[in-house]
Amino acid sequence: MRSQADAPGITSFTDDQLVRVARLFASDASLATHLDDLPADAGRRRVSLASTPHLEMWAITWPLGSSSGWHDHGVASGAFVVVHGALLEEVALPTGEVVTTVVTADEHRSLPPGLIHRTSAFGDSPALTVHAYSPSLAGARTFEPEQLGPTA
Ligand SMILES: [Fe+2]
Repeated sequence: MRSQADAPGITSFTDDQLVRVARLFASDASLATHLDDLPADAGRRRVSLASTPHLEMWAITWPLGSSSGWHDHGVASGAFVVVHGALLEEVALPTGEVVTTVVTADEHRSLPPGLIHRTSAFGDSPALTVHAYSPSLAGARTFEPEQLGPTA
């Protein structure tokens, strides 16, 4: 029997559960208002939708030209859903290669612990995304491009 200290969907989340909870929050039609007043030259803007030690939910707006920079998520697993627009995701592999994916509206990506990536607005309109992370993002790190490369 599973202990209450590790209750899937309550205190821990599988990859599929993170995608589903991100899609649940992304289904809130009022999220689109976050795109209404974006200054043209602003960077990303993060809005906390929910936060516990076990789960963080964020809405992020991505003006044209904005980027997250290279980062990981500490020990957290994550998922994001594109609500509007598109993101370009670049994943830095341990081999030093970078794999690039375009994630468009209603698509999602799962983010395993240890993943190092950079996401950027893509296309000709601002993007809106919803992100779920478990546990919290404490311990997440940022990287300069020269810090990336083969690790073994
Ligand atoms: Fe990320």
